[in-house]
Amino acid sequence: MSEKSLAGRKALVTGGARGIGAAIAQALARAGASIMIADILEEAGNATATTIAKEGITTGFAQLDVTDDAQWERAVAKTVGTLGGYDILINNAGIEITSLISEVKAEDARRMCDVNIVGTVLGMKHAFRAMRPGGPAGKGGAVVNIASVAATIAFPAIAVYSGTKSAVDRMTRIGAMEAGKLGFGVRVNCIYPGLIPTDMGMQLANDIVKVGLAADVNAAVGSVVEQTPLGRLAEVTDIGNAAVFLCSEEARFITGVGLPVDGGMGM
Ligand SMILES: NC(=O)c1ccc[n+]([C@@H]2O[C@H](COP(=O)([O-])OP(=O)(O)OC[C@H]3O[C@@H](n4cnc5c(N)ncnc54)[C@H](O)[C@@H]3O)[C@@H](O)[C@H]2O)c1
Repeated sequence: MSEKSLAGRKALVTGGARGIGAAIAQALARAGASIMIADILEEAGNATATTIAKEGITTGFAQLDVTDDAQWERAVAKTVGTLGGYDILINNAGIEITSLISEVKAEDARRMCDVNIVGTVLGMKHAFRAMRPGGPAGKGGAVVNIASVAATIAFPAIAVYSGTKSAVDRMTRIGAMEAGKLGFGVRVNCIYPGLIPTDMGMQLANDIVKVGLAADVNAAVGSVVEQTPLGRLAEVTDIGNAAVFLCSEEARFITGVGLPVDGGMGM
């Protein structure tokens, strides 16, 4: 793949303040894209944007709760205004609240559905409207939804989370179908990351201990590594590299797929 495979592209990354989102934003920037970080965390989001800007990349921060339609409209308008266009959406914001099914709380289940499912579909909605012919950006583009290896395996204590990620997977296919058939010029794909020791990943490892499925955090992480043919956890840069590829011209005939980046855990 060429060094600057995303030169001139304009990307919005949700949940871009930290973790996987921040790493994807950095990878896209290294590949030449300008970046709008969108998150509920204003301070961390601005800090990530500032770090990227130091590399001479045009960046900005947009306050965005992905569950809110009106905030999406403002974030997309800010992206088009600040970056001078919009042709990449990374739908990365997500939450995970660990629970055995026998203990699940309705409010936690609803919150995960709201952020992970409603948030993702609203992202696609506003991307399609902006990127399709006649839209304020109007040049087509690429959407990458961040699902999870959890959509492809049965891992205990994350039933609802896994269900929301299976929904992201299915919505990716339908997004790709609609955008293709309607001539929007937008490709839609998703990535299934394996476990990564971000804030979310480490919280999950701790919660697995709390619900009695592992003796300690090392055992929880060790059992994931054991189930992974490549023998390690995923790293945020692994996901960033995959996102760059899916957004690039090299992937121009790829739409409606889910790409596992999980060291083989989900095969
Ligand atoms: N860490 C893992 O092991 C792992 C594995 C597979 C998939 N994922 C997925 O990758 C994505 C990123 O995960 P992470 O590990 O970086 O998590 P994280 O908790 O470290 O970061 C998530 C980011 O999303 C933001 N966010 C949360 N709710 C939001 C909302 N309503 N609106 C806007 N932003 C919001 C947070 O503020 C944070 O910046 C998630 O979709 C997650 O489900 C993570």
